[in-house]
Amino acid sequence: MSEIKKYSLAEVKTHNDNRSSWLVINNNVYDVTPFLNEHPGGEEVLLEQAGRDATDPFEDVGHSSDARELMAKYKIGEVIDSERKQVKEKIPDWSSGNDNATSENTMKSWLIPILLAVMATIIYRFYFLS
Ligand code: HEM
Repeated sequence: MSEIKKYSLAEVKTHNDNRSSWLVINNNVYDVTPFLNEHPGGEEVLLEQAGRDATDPFEDVGHSSDARELMAKYKIGEVIDSERKQVKEKIPDWSSGNDNATSENTMKSWLIPILLAVMATIIYRFYFLS
């Protein structure tokens, strides 16, 4: 039971209609046949991807963590080692995060010298002009 079943992409490809719909997402193989008419995104999108690697369309939709938990129910195995794709990390999220951090840092690097200058002016006026 604990043995993970391995499937070739050619085998997944044969399960491409509503009698048997398999999908590959992140190197995992899912049999979504019983899920077709339960999928909140509709049966058509799943059938369109049936028999294929649907990682990109699946990720593009931005499925929730609930959806990701639900997937486990339909997992039947994994892609054979020689045909595995490198799982993409969410690089766009990171880079946009980094962009924000960079602009925040730029703000900070301006704010501190300005505050110091204002404080120096106040101290100068207090000591030398009173
Ligand atoms: C085992 C595979 C899949 C599961 C368990 C699943 C599950 C779900 C769930 C639970 C939702 C509701 C929204 C959410 O919670 O994110 C959803 C929405 C959706 N899914 Fe999937 N999905 C799967 C595969 C796919 C694939 C391969 C596509 C291909 C494009 C797809 C396209 C969509 C679309 C378009 C929506 C509607 C999004 C919206 O209305 O905002 N799903 N899916």
